[in-house]
Amino acid sequence: MAQTPLVQMTGITKRFGGVTALQNVDLTAYAGEVLAIVGDNGAGKSTLIKVLTGVYQPTEGRMFLDGQEIAFASHAEAIEAGIDAVYQTLALADHLDPPANMFLGNELTKSVLGIPMLDNKRMRSETERVLMERLGVKLKSLDAPTESLSGGQRQAVAIARAVYSEGLRVLVMDEPTAALGPQETARTLKLIQTVKAQGLAVILISHSLDDVFEVSDRVHVQRRGQCVGVVKTAHSSTQEVLGMIVGAEEAA
Ligand SMILES: Nc1ncnc2c1ncn2[C@@H]1O[C@H](COP(=O)(O)OP(=O)(O)O)[C@@H](O)[C@H]1O
Ligand SMILES: [Mg+2]
Repeated sequence: MAQTPLVQMTGITKRFGGVTALQNVDLTAYAGEVLAIVGDNGAGKSTLIKVLTGVYQPTEGRMFLDGQEIAFASHAEAIEAGIDAVYQTLALADHLDPPANMFLGNELTKSVLGIPMLDNKRMRSETERVLMERLGVKLKSLDAPTESLSGGQRQAVAIARAVYSEGLRVLVMDEPTAALGPQETARTLKLIQTVKAQGLAVILISHSLDDVFEVSDRVHVQRRGQCVGVVKTAHSSTQEVLGMIVGAEEAA
């Protein structure tokens, strides 16, 4: 992959008071790849992607998107730049139907006799279109509350919401399969492949090395706030990555 990295984070340090959550971390992600981030609890995975997605500001370090330096004061600024995230605790309103969730806070309107009204019909058709065109997913009903959907379908709605933004270039997923059964996990991994094939960079945080080895191109290993290595998935093994996660001295 001799191309410019889509995402480059260099020398990222993040301190919370006396706690150093990240210490001089570099991260690189390319368009059209799945980069997995793995590491034990507290290794700094979530903090790292929260820095990338503008939720936190780094104490030190620089970030680049397609070679241009970026710095975000808020998550909204990261979305504006083309970086969005789908979290394990999906930010879906359970009692609302999928179209309402797709456009939550971003509702489509039409003007009726000069008065702005919700354009429910277009939100419905757009939801149907994005789910099908971008993710190959067709829901049985768009009218049921989102809580009645399966875990995999809920993931699809959350991903559809992120990719609806035409400018989306980087999709971050923090433990997307943690609460899912095997079948729903397989479906979610397929969605990740679909999004990757559209040229996005997908950054996947996962505890499941099975998922990581099935779906990722490279693995970035965090340990105690530092990156302890990056491997090509096809040239590595769960044993090697596990050894890096726990630290060679403990593993020996
Ligand atoms: N908002 C915060 N305030 C203080 N400490 C935090 C905060 N967020 C994370 N940390 C600390 O930073 C370290 C890394 O946490 P985190 O990024 O959540 O790890 P991971 O996602 O790999 O489990 C942990 O020691 C955690 O306690
Ligand atoms: Mg975490």
